[in-house]
Amino acid sequence: MNAATLSGELVVSGLRKWYHRRDQAPVHVLEDCSFRIEPGKLTVVMGTSGCGKSTLAYILSGYIKPDEGQVQMDGQPVQGPGPDRIMVFQETALWPWMTVTENIVFGPLARKSVSRKEVTQKALELLRKFGLSEFKDKYPGQLSGGMKRRAELAQALINSPKVMVLDEPFRGLDVMTRELMQEYYIKLFEETRLTTVFITSELEEAIFLADRILIMGNAPSRIVSSLEVDLPRPRTFDVLASERYLEIKKEALEVLFSESMQQAD
Ligand SMILES: Nc1ncnc2c1ncn2[C@@H]1O[C@H](COP(=O)(O)OP(=O)(O)O)[C@@H](O)[C@H]1O
Ligand SMILES: [Mg+2]
Repeated sequence: MNAATLSGELVVSGLRKWYHRRDQAPVHVLEDCSFRIEPGKLTVVMGTSGCGKSTLAYILSGYIKPDEGQVQMDGQPVQGPGPDRIMVFQETALWPWMTVTENIVFGPLARKSVSRKEVTQKALELLRKFGLSEFKDKYPGQLSGGMKRRAELAQALINSPKVMVLDEPFRGLDVMTRELMQEYYIKLFEETRLTTVFITSELEEAIFLADRILIMGNAPSRIVSSLEVDLPRPRTFDVLASERYLEIKKEALEVLFSESMQQAD
């Protein structure tokens, strides 16, 4: 796969964002936030709680507009959300009254973009890939946390997005399930090279998954540091024991620590 065939480049320039609240001072979240997301790469965004990661994810996906600045995808300005282009992966994405399969086919059918037969076939393929074939007719309430996350991934991927924006997708899962989900996602990414923006506050998860880690400063925030993660792919958890992993971890910890110290000032 060469660079010319990859899509999903995001160019983010000069974002500024405030939240305006009735009778209170506005919250200044982003200030001159500029960076580029390389197509076909997995970029992780990290930053302290409240620094504006989710705000950035919503802007990248087109759900909220910045006060200033813009996001371009493959040269076109992002004007609003579009399931074929960018998906945000949220914990609440499954409707409890629909089966897993119904949840996955709902979006494409509602947009009348494909036939039921075609989309159902694609859904079943995705369910197989995520080890959920046996659960295709179950309701979300009958699934474990990890299974729900996998169903939500399938629900996003059925739209063949050019970019996946994942906002702390594995937060709240127990350690074993979280590791399993990381393996599912890294396999998927390494097979498809689907441009991914992955937000997390877990450093091990970040290094394990990333091609590059962007670190946000404290609010009003922008990207203050960018670390290349040159660990070989395909990756397995063995990399966590390598010299290079430890070097990258040390470098990242220094940046994260100096940011959190500035916040404490
Ligand atoms: N809708 C909103 N209205 C007012 N303030 C908000 C809103 N959403 C987020 N904020 C504030 O903006 C800041 C950044 O929030 P957020 O983007 O959720 O950060 P993060 O995801 O990094 O924790 C926080 O101080 C948060 O309280
Ligand atoms: Mg958040």
